[in-house]
Amino acid sequence: MQRNSVPYILGFCTAICLVCSVIVSTAAVGLKEKQEQNKILDRQKKVLTVAGLIKETEAVTPKKVQELFKKRIKSIIVDLKGGTLDKAMTKKAKTFDQQKAKKDPARSTSAPKNRAGVKRLPKHALVYLVSKTDIKEDGKGFALDKYIFPIEGKGLWSTLYGFIALAPNFNVIRGLIFYDHAETPGLGGEVENPSWKAKWPGRTVYGPKGSSPKSWGKPKIKVVKGLAGPPSKDPHKVDGLSGATITSNGVTHLVRFWLGENGFGPFIRHKLGLKQASKGGK
Ligand SMILES: Cc1cc2nc3c(=O)[nH]c(=O)nc-3n(C[C@H](O)[C@H](O)[C@H](O)COP(=O)(O)O)c2cc1C
Repeated sequence: MQRNSVPYILGFCTAICLVCSVIVSTAAVGLKEKQEQNKILDRQKKVLTVAGLIKETEAVTPKKVQELFKKRIKSIIVDLKGGTLDKAMTKKAKTFDQQKAKKDPARSTSAPKNRAGVKRLPKHALVYLVSKTDIKEDGKGFALDKYIFPIEGKGLWSTLYGFIALAPNFNVIRGLIFYDHAETPGLGGEVENPSWKAKWPGRTVYGPKGSSPKSWGKPKIKVVKGLAGPPSKDPHKVDGLSGATITSNGVTHLVRFWLGENGFGPFIRHKLGLKQASKGGK
């Protein structure tokens, strides 16, 4: 057959496409497990970072991440609406994929109208408990230092995914991290800037500093336009991202949503021994 004939060219293209698709699908299937493992590892690394157990820029081996995670973090799964621990699901917390659960109609509900742009809520959500000391093999030796909650919500261009760390009183912020978003670098993308993230620890989520937990209402924390004072002066305010008011407002809404009554509020109330709020998160 002539090399420049139409049947030859078509046959050649088909053969190349077939070979390539076999290579790509073999790679996709073969690497799936590795990808899942990497996803878990990446999530663990972010949790350790917001927990203050590793530095963001620190090069840590996967082995070290897994070891630290095992020694210092307890993962639990909570029933979001009821605010209680789900013991059976907690046993499988390591492989629980909250994003998948959120997309599964059987394992999620539609979210009430909200300013964070959250459309669906998983029925169950992950909460991480950080220990001050190493947890022993038998689970003993756990000394609660922080809670870490997954958070997400709309910015300008994208959904921002992150974690917020709170002190055991659920009021004092210990850290904030965003690990996935598509905001503009230098504008909304400054949510990743270490000096902006350093503005969060020490601020308070709910009532005025020192107020009784019983008086805590809706989250008051807010990313303001412009500058905020130190936590002692402005406990509920964080500096805005300049030129990125929409992303800044998005951060306010998403943090408030997840720490409010439609997010982890029922869990927080349950842990503090407070009565659950009335229907609709009021
Ligand atoms: C190319 C481009 C990218 C932008 N990216 C963002 C962004 O990531 N986040 C954001 O809030 N605003 C972004 N803005 C600006 C918004 O359109 C809007 O002007 C801004 O949020 C208002 O904030 P300011 O009041 O602080 O100026 C971008 C604007 C342009 C032209």
